[in-house]
Amino acid sequence: MKVGIVGAGMVGSAAGYALALRGGASHVVLVDRSAALAAAQAEDIAHAVPFAHPCRVEAGDYAALEGAGLVILAAGVAQKPGESRLSLLSRNAEVFAQVIEGVQKAAPDAMLLVASNPVDVMTEIALRASGLPAARVIGSGTILDTARFRSLIAGHLGIAPQSVHAYVLGEHGDSEVLAWASARAGSEPVARFAAQVGAALTDEVRARIDEGVRRAAYRIIEGKGATWYGIGAGLARIVQAVRDDQRAVLSVSIVTPGVEGVSDVALSLPRVVGRDGVVATLMPELAADEAAALKRSAELLKETASQLV
Ligand code: LAC
Repeated sequence: MKVGIVGAGMVGSAAGYALALRGGASHVVLVDRSAALAAAQAEDIAHAVPFAHPCRVEAGDYAALEGAGLVILAAGVAQKPGESRLSLLSRNAEVFAQVIEGVQKAAPDAMLLVASNPVDVMTEIALRASGLPAARVIGSGTILDTARFRSLIAGHLGIAPQSVHAYVLGEHGDSEVLAWASARAGSEPVARFAAQVGAALTDEVRARIDEGVRRAAYRIIEGKGATWYGIGAGLARIVQAVRDDQRAVLSVSIVTPGVEGVSDVALSLPRVVGRDGVVATLMPELAADEAAALKRSAELLKETASQLV
């Protein structure tokens, strides 16, 4: 599948690199307002291909996106130290207006995968601008937060993250919801598994894990100015689920008809992702406090998106 990436900065190029390494695409085209940056990133990633899987990596203008099955939208400004994702909205909404017009001219039927923050509201902007079905306008959402959540639980339990099934729901941001009630290690509820292995999930442990997930980006940005490897790998994961019609359950963001009484809001829930984009949405069993937090997250996103009209 030919994959376009608009925005050849750290996130877009990390996604291209991750796709090349995991063999998630046969052809990657990087587009950026700086043609020199796109060309340099493409050539650099192409030099990794001989160590990985066959993948044609090139830079081009929007016209080079013709025939792409999926386009990653990673253009825009990133958080500065201490800056919230939602505060990027006005700047990145402007950028998206031009980006989506250019993409649609070259690849009107391509699925859109939104990475730019605030990713949930940017997903809604992309849906409105593209006129595509909601299932084909996907935001990376909390796929990275879910990975962080699983890694921290796994670390505490001394098992592989792949054996932890837990999701972060709602906004990819400060109001996100760590769904502890439905979290499993193997087939066991995590609290039960933790007790069995003598690693009790105390309130202190849960609070440490919550902080570890919720503040991860802020910590990394303080140290290196931005995040890119985690989100790049998460984007490549979504692309592979689409390309291979895996029907994988991933916590991604699409405009959703109704969540905890809030209508038509883009946020993350566990969703089945395949060739046609999001083919099903799952609503995990939530504790009362988790359901209330998800409602608050949905209301915050709805309120933020309403500022766009
Ligand atoms: C992060 C960015 C992708 O959470 O929002 O690292």
